[in-house]
Amino acid sequence: MIDPDLGRILKRVRRVVVLTGAGVSAESGIPTFRDASSGLWKRFDPESLATPEAFQRDPARVWEWYAHRRAMAAEASPNPAHRALAEWERRLDGCPVVTQNVDGLHQRAGSRDVIELHGSLLRSRCLDPRHPVEEGADAVGVDLPPRCQTCGGPLRPDVVWFGEALPAGAYEAALAAVAEADFLLSVGTSSLVQPAASLPLEALERGVPVVEINIEPTPLTPVADWSLRGTAGEILPRLAAAASS
Ligand code: OAD
Repeated sequence: MIDPDLGRILKRVRRVVVLTGAGVSAESGIPTFRDASSGLWKRFDPESLATPEAFQRDPARVWEWYAHRRAMAAEASPNPAHRALAEWERRLDGCPVVTQNVDGLHQRAGSRDVIELHGSLLRSRCLDPRHPVEEGADAVGVDLPPRCQTCGGPLRPDVVWFGEALPAGAYEAALAAVAEADFLLSVGTSSLVQPAASLPLEALERGVPVVEINIEPTPLTPVADWSLRGTAGEILPRLAAAASS
């Protein structure tokens, strides 16, 4: 059941900005980072897999982990949460999805306006930023690390590692999307990682209604206008349906 006040607002919204995190892909079988039992950062050490220093020390080991995650993303399918957002985009004046996810599932569900804050597992790039990014190169069954076609140097996954800046322009694009939106949804993120976690706060400062969807409370919960408890795959299709009824 959707709160009647929220239902009224949903019917009027024209531009929704959606911040997504790992919880949106959980129902596609992709593990989150901080889940108490299956979270990636509970089972793997980020210092030895997701830092520039780790890559310098042992690029093959880092690549084995990313090749495994890339294969998992390729085998996964978008779930009802991804599909509801793509469908919503077709009915609104705009529905930019600002995602912390690197699995490409929003795009595969059909969302066209996706801002990737943390890069993409599906791309690789040379350490030399002048060399072209390589799309979809297969990292399984090749000698690791894969090599740049321009200079033969090691390719790295085109993702953001700890201690690194976001891709150029990504956060500015996300802020611009928030500035144009009349509604913000924060879905399946622990709201712990900056600067992504600041985007809902920017919206609140502008008086834009903020709704959180999560299976657990987060630091955003006490300040959000509504915090809906449940899975993204259950709740997002209901919200999108309420907006169009
Ligand atoms: P987290 O793993 O920190 O949080 C996932 C959130 O999703 C948690 O709050 C869960 O309660 C919630 N959740 C799990 N299953 C859900 C479901 N089916 N429906 C709704 N919510 C669900 O993932 P992120 O917040 O995305 O960065 O993490 C942010 C960043 O931290 C990641 O992009 C990654 C990580 O370090 C980099 O690797 C740069």
